[in-house]
Amino acid sequence: MSTTVEFDPTTRKAIEQTRANLNEARHLPGYYYTSPEILQREIDTIFMREWLCVGRVEEFEKPGDYNALRIVGEPLVICRGADNELRAFRNLCQHRGVEVAVGQGNTNRFTCRYHAWTYGTDGRLTGAPHNNEVSGFDFKFCRLPLLSLDTWGGYIFINFDPNCRPLGDCLDEDGVRDFAAFLQPENTRTSDKFEFVVPCNWKFVPENLMDMYHVGVIHKTSFGAHFPVNDFRFNLVGQGYNAVYEALTMAPNGVTLFHQMPWLEGKVSDKFACTTWVRPTMNIFGRHDLIQPWVATPIDVNHTHVTIYTQLPEAFFDEPGFAEKNKIYADFIRLVATEDEAMLESLQTGANSNGFKPGPTTNLERAIHHLQNYYLDTLLDEDEDARVSRIKDGVAALNAGSAKYPEPIDGGYSKSFGKARA
Ligand code: FES
Ligand SMILES: [Fe+2]
Repeated sequence: MSTTVEFDPTTRKAIEQTRANLNEARHLPGYYYTSPEILQREIDTIFMREWLCVGRVEEFEKPGDYNALRIVGEPLVICRGADNELRAFRNLCQHRGVEVAVGQGNTNRFTCRYHAWTYGTDGRLTGAPHNNEVSGFDFKFCRLPLLSLDTWGGYIFINFDPNCRPLGDCLDEDGVRDFAAFLQPENTRTSDKFEFVVPCNWKFVPENLMDMYHVGVIHKTSFGAHFPVNDFRFNLVGQGYNAVYEALTMAPNGVTLFHQMPWLEGKVSDKFACTTWVRPTMNIFGRHDLIQPWVATPIDVNHTHVTIYTQLPEAFFDEPGFAEKNKIYADFIRLVATEDEAMLESLQTGANSNGFKPGPTTNLERAIHHLQNYYLDTLLDEDEDARVSRIKDGVAALNAGSAKYPEPIDGGYSKSFGKARA
């Protein structure tokens, strides 16, 4: 059930400031990042409705491979069944609700730890000791409730809403599939998966990942030294955004230990970089030799689980010295994450402070401003016409700006790649 949030006049005024055009706007008030009431509203309007990335297909290669997760407290399990079908179901024993799957691994059944009800890898109940004579309960049709599951680019998405729109439609609304097609994420494998918990509200994570303002500051000695922020061009699409820019790869000194992904060979330079936001919780980064998505999942109002995947083309895994090279890449992304983590924690401390007054949004925070207004659209049930007109104004203002794209090679990325493949 949807909740409503009443704002006091001061908070209402602060929210209206975020609604203003970029050059007049202020960041969101601290309350937005610290209020359990807001999180509950986000759970109702975002996390129980939108498609959420929960992993990669190659993590579930064999029948019986599974992973038990919690998203905003909701237990679920992803499992490849004995019939080779990939499914998501609620990880709730149909007896008293205990989580039947624990951790991750491979199994041919899930046995509840409490009273030993047993479920197959397709979620169907297969055994319930001492319990065959209960009236009004049909053990034969009992199962762990299924959730919607779909994949794109090798990423697995789930949706808690039984009436959700198709995944492809949602991705297309923000131009994600069109933009990211040339990266061919479906032809890569995960070479590293780094998971950690940050003591901050979930919204700070995607905001930080589209904040081009901080890159040359906190990441100066890791990857931000030659980051051309002045020319950064944010492409706002629907409620999402993407960008093509110049940056070296995510390895020490920006020097690749591999080479261009085969499908990008001769098409991009070693300075090729791109990013897109897959709302609400995923930011994908591409370089000439890798793909690196970050996925942020709220635990509670002050804590967020973050997963960073590094994905490389299958062929790289067979190259000499792969393990050593991969370790260097893995250490490097941990270093970058540590740099961000300190700021995320401090952002939350600031948001919690009575003395925090949100400052101005700058040109380099254009995507953050767009994203913050997406939160507000979703939370405030804004009138659709007003929303569309505001987005159009924002995009028109962007297009009238003086920022330039780095010159695309081959006359444009996704579209020309699409043509080259056809
Ligand atoms: S709660 Fe699972 S068998 Fe009782
Ligand atoms: Fe960062």
